[in-house]
Amino acid sequence: MVTIKAKGLTKRFGDFVAVDHIDLEVKSGKIFAFLGPNGAGKTTTIKMLTGILFHDEGELEILGVRNPYPDREIEVKKRFGLIPEEPRIYPYFKGYEFLNFIMAVYEVDDRVEQRMKELLEAFNIDYLDKYVSDMSHGMKQKLLLVSVLMREPEIMFLDEPTVGLDAKSAKILKLYLQRLAQEGKTVFMTTHILEIAERMADEIAIINKGKIIAQGTMEELREQAGTEGTLEDLFLKLTGQEEEIKRIVEELKE
Ligand SMILES: Nc1ncnc2c1ncn2[C@@H]1O[C@H](COP(=O)(O)OP(=O)(O)OP(=O)(O)O)[C@@H](O)[C@H]1O
Ligand SMILES: [Mg+2]
Repeated sequence: MVTIKAKGLTKRFGDFVAVDHIDLEVKSGKIFAFLGPNGAGKTTTIKMLTGILFHDEGELEILGVRNPYPDREIEVKKRFGLIPEEPRIYPYFKGYEFLNFIMAVYEVDDRVEQRMKELLEAFNIDYLDKYVSDMSHGMKQKLLLVSVLMREPEIMFLDEPTVGLDAKSAKILKLYLQRLAQEGKTVFMTTHILEIAERMADEIAIINKGKIIAQGTMEELREQAGTEGTLEDLFLKLTGQEEEIKRIVEELKE
C-alpha cells in the first residue's frame, strides 16, 4: 500500500523556492531515506508531509487520505509519529509526566505501556524524574523516540534521528525501525550518515536545492550515477560536489 504520496509538492518562502515540485511515493513495509545537503529542503518537506507547514502547490496523500490538512488533520496525525529535527519537549515536564501526557493524549492501551517499559530499558532511560530542561540533547531525543516508538504508528517520520545518540542507542533505534518496517509500517527518515541509509534503506531519494535529483534503490542510483561505489560516492557525484571536494583537498595540500 502506498502510504505517502506527493505530487508537485512545492514550498516557497517569499521568492525563494525551498521545495520545488517534488514527487514522492513510499509504500508500507519500506524504509525510505530522504537525503540531501544542508538546506536542500528535507525538513521543509517533512513539515509539509506532517501538516506543520502548508504547501503552496501540489497534491498530498497520507495513509490514503487525500490532502489531509487541515480538514482531516487529527485523524491522520493519530496514525503517524514524528521525530522532528530538534527534540523540543515542554521543559517543565518531568520525563514521566511527558510520557503520561502522551499516553493520555493518544488514549493508548496496556500493550503500549508494556512496550514503553521495554523501550525505556533498551535505551537505558533511568532519568524519568528529571525535568526535561535538565536533560542533555541525547536524553531528550531518546525520551521523544520512546514516546513515538511505543505507539508503533503506521508511519514514522524521523528527521535526523541519530543525532546526539550514543552508539548503543543508535543501534537499537536502527534495529527497531527495521522491525517496524518488517511488520508493515513505513519509515521515512532523513540522515546525513550515508552508511545508515545505505545499510537500512529500501529506497533512497536525493534532494538538492529543492529538487529531487535521484530516486530509487541503491542499484538504481548506481545506474543513474553511472558508477559503482558507496552511497557517499554516488551522493557527492549526483549533487555535483565531487569536483569541488577535489579542488578543496588540492588547495589544502598547498
Ligand atoms: N521558515 C522559513 N523561512 C525562510 N526560509 C526557510 C524557512 N524554513 C526553511 N527555510 C529555507 O529553506 C531551505 C531548506 O531548508 P530545510 O530546513 O528544509 O533544509 P534541510 O534539507 O532540512 O537542511 P539540513 O540538512 O541542514 O537540516 C533553506 O534555504 C532554509 O533557509
Ligand atoms: Mg533539516
